[in-house]
Amino acid sequence: MTPPGTPARRGWFITFEGPEGAGKTTQVDRVAATLAGRGLDVLVTREPGGTWLGERLREVLLARTGAGAPRDATTDALLFNAARRQLVTEVIGPALQAGRTVLCARFADSTRAYQGYGAGVSLERLNAIEAAATDGLRPDLTILLDLPPEIGLQRKAPGEVTRFEADFDLEFHQRVRDGFLAIAAGDPGRFAIVDATASERDVTAAIDAVLLDRVVRGGGTSEPPTPVLRTTR
Ligand code: TMP
Repeated sequence: MTPPGTPARRGWFITFEGPEGAGKTTQVDRVAATLAGRGLDVLVTREPGGTWLGERLREVLLARTGAGAPRDATTDALLFNAARRQLVTEVIGPALQAGRTVLCARFADSTRAYQGYGAGVSLERLNAIEAAATDGLRPDLTILLDLPPEIGLQRKAPGEVTRFEADFDLEFHQRVRDGFLAIAAGDPGRFAIVDATASERDVTAAIDAVLLDRVVRGGGTSEPPTPVLRTTR
């Protein structure tokens, strides 16, 4: 029986993934505005980050410190997952339980794509680390903003270049992109792939179409809740 005060359904958990320069931040903010306009209580967060610890780990993980940077991809995976556990327990879990819709820029698929497909950590090892971090929490819907790495990397302003853009070569980023596409192919019910080479406006329109289909009309995904939505703008 549901305890008194507990929402009957938890909120939607929607993640945004993709290679560098795919425009996740812009699109997450637009989706937040769209869903809020339709009456959902939306929380926006990001990985790594979103908590005090996560933002500190983000500084460490993305800093271009040359010789001091981690050289071991499992170390990276553990640190990203430490930030993830803190975010899940402190922010995402409570928000979903309160019936809020959570939009997160990057989640566990990024570790699979970057540390797994990109840097060679086995997916078995990553699955075990992820399970400890998330207690099995999976997104209801993942929007994969797909684009070739050479286009995405060119979009980065010099001040935005992190360790992952500076210290990893184009082949690594190609493996990351291919990894995302392979993960999506293996889980088509959860993923929607959007061509992120299109204009920002067209990408937003494509994402809106996915949201209309899967969130507003409640079709397409296997088990997420069906929030009560106002369908007029
Ligand atoms: P971004 O938030 O600007 O995309 O930067 C995050 C960087 O961290 C990006 O290069 C991808 C990388 N990353 C991983 O390598 N593994 C992970 O699990 C996550 C969440 C991010």
